[in-house]
Amino acid sequence: MAYDTKLLGTSEPDIAYAAKLIADGKVVGIPTETVYGLAADAENEEAVRKIFEAKGRPQDNPLIVHLADVSQLEYYVHDIPNIAYKLAEKFCPGPLTMVLPKRSIIPDITSAGLDTVGIRIPYHPAARRIIAESGKVLAAPSANLSGSPSPTTAMHVMNDMKGRIPAIVDGGSCPVGVESTVISFENGKIRLLRPGFISADELSEFAEVICDRHITEAAVDGEQVRSPGMKYKHYSPKANVTIISGSGDKFIEYVNSHGGNGVYAMPFDDDAEKCRIPCIPYGNTPEEQAAKLFAVLREFDDIGAKQVYARCPSVNGVGLAVYNRLLRAAGFEVIAL
Ligand code: TXA
Ligand code: MG
Repeated sequence: MAYDTKLLGTSEPDIAYAAKLIADGKVVGIPTETVYGLAADAENEEAVRKIFEAKGRPQDNPLIVHLADVSQLEYYVHDIPNIAYKLAEKFCPGPLTMVLPKRSIIPDITSAGLDTVGIRIPYHPAARRIIAESGKVLAAPSANLSGSPSPTTAMHVMNDMKGRIPAIVDGGSCPVGVESTVISFENGKIRLLRPGFISADELSEFAEVICDRHITEAAVDGEQVRSPGMKYKHYSPKANVTIISGSGDKFIEYVNSHGGNGVYAMPFDDDAEKCRIPCIPYGNTPEEQAAKLFAVLREFDDIGAKQVYARCPSVNGVGLAVYNRLLRAAGFEVIAL
């Protein structure tokens, strides 16, 4: 169905309108602290089906369910380990998704047939108001077309979802900029499935953290992965992206001798003035880089870049999340200098 997609703000009537759409089984683009989400009633099969259709998402990739608060946990999941409660106390609401055994109230389509579901309690005020006013818990993947970089502004969502959903709530740029940290639990340990703003170091104060191998290594065809999202090449801009690892000087030397038609550099801010080929810098600190990464990848699409050489980020803190997303954008192509 083709919609005349409305751009809403965060005024009382606009939030009420968005909440009503969701209560009526529709899909709405909503801001969260990480990236924009494509939200619908997680308990309504038909509504969740519309999310998969709007995104063009493979049916075997499960959705995260967004709750209002920790008190709802036991209604949706069971066998919750003690560490999960401790983590929730410290990090929820916030950019943390915990994969836990689901109860049957969560339809199979939401969890893509798995017997677990990812649970997250967002802190973005607009997301919280929409959850509260709709009276629903929200299934919400990132609001990009499947395979595109995640959206960090309402305009990014509009570019991907125009005509596909009835409304988008504009809550400004997402402060974190990369999707939530996804974890599961095994034998008293935490398994990191997707790095995010909440780092392995912070998690390790609660239990031993196993960093899943597929955070930095490509899955080969048919290989078993612990999180379906690891199978897909994500976040790919139309350009071919190559990561260049090594010092800033080596990076500059490399890009300055590899210029050409449609070739761009993606340096740190501090390297930008030394680039003699066109470039879009993506920040200096891991936090800045997380906040800018997806917007910069989308900008390369807009200008028709054919080849992008990106300087490899530091992997400290949220830097590991930036590296993980960039690796996927690059199809795991890294040149070490
Ligand atoms: O920050 C976020 O998490 C954003 C905002 C909107 O909340 N959402 C998001 O959703 O990034 P999505 O669908 O784009 O990514 C969810 C990831 C996928 O890689 C999926 O495979 C994984 O989480 N996932 C979801 N449920 C899972 C489960 N039960 N077991 C393992 N992995 C799961
Ligand atoms: Mg996504």
